[in-house]
Amino acid sequence: MPKLTVDGFGSVEVADGKRLVLAIEQDAHVDILHACGGNARCTTCRVEFIEGEPPQMTRAEQQVLAAKGVTGARLSCQIVCDHDMTVRAISRLEGSGRPDPGGPPAPEITPPPEWL
Ligand code: FES
Repeated sequence: MPKLTVDGFGSVEVADGKRLVLAIEQDAHVDILHACGGNARCTTCRVEFIEGEPPQMTRAEQQVLAAKGVTGARLSCQIVCDHDMTVRAISRLEGSGRPDPGGPPAPEITPPPEWL
């Protein structure tokens, strides 16, 4: 099982292939935002990679990062845990002023991934 480390929150083992946004929320118990419900539209699920950044990216992730001018971060809703990773959760409910983290992301990457 891949190991997920969230900087400042420790390390957990997660199910192989689990969406990173769900692993951060459900396994590492970090209050990451996912305002668009994991659909690569909002970028609130963004994380910074310290180690293990995946070389692959979905077309949806690439397009929304470019459209919003986001650099140095990846979208945790567009990544699956298939190897060890260390990330920094830079977009959390705490301090956001939002009432909730957003709708629950589906178990699988949405929209259906087109890998680049
Ligand atoms: S882009 Fe909205 S939850 Fe990932």
